[in-house]
Amino acid sequence: MAEDLVKIEGDKATKYEGLFPQIQALIGDEKDAVANLANVAAALKEAFGFFWIGFYLVKEDELVLGPFQGPVACTRIQKGRGVCGTSWEKAETLVVDDVEQFPGHIACSSLSKSEIVVPLVKNGEVIGVLDVDSSEIATFDSVDATHLNQLCSWLVTVI
Ligand code: SME
Repeated sequence: MAEDLVKIEGDKATKYEGLFPQIQALIGDEKDAVANLANVAAALKEAFGFFWIGFYLVKEDELVLGPFQGPVACTRIQKGRGVCGTSWEKAETLVVDDVEQFPGHIACSSLSKSEIVVPLVKNGEVIGVLDVDSSEIATFDSVDATHLNQLCSWLVTVI
């Protein structure tokens, strides 16, 4: 049975550092990808209250919506399109302070103002992306990038 998450007080880095071991304990030795991605999305939503958080997974030549928390979202994204498709194409983490300034940004919701996308890289190949959206401008920085990259590097070992 899943334990309730312990609420971590403090700055953003402290919250990530407190959350990561709890996510690892929550997942334990479970290897089901959908179950694990769903719980990671829920844990991040619960800890940080992000507007939208979820996964897109590479299926053939597109990203297809996976487990997420938040309002309904676009189902399919082409390689190189929007922030997610660009992160996939470049295999890079992208931090976007103002989504309206990002060429080709895909607006799943007009309330989304800033975004971070982290590729899920397994055996040298991008298998999906983690997308986190905020309803405020410039929510994400190198602290989010560092910790979400660390989370995703581990996550690919359990999906
Ligand atoms: N804004 C993203 C699309 C996904 S949604 O925000 C959930 C993009 O430009 O790739």
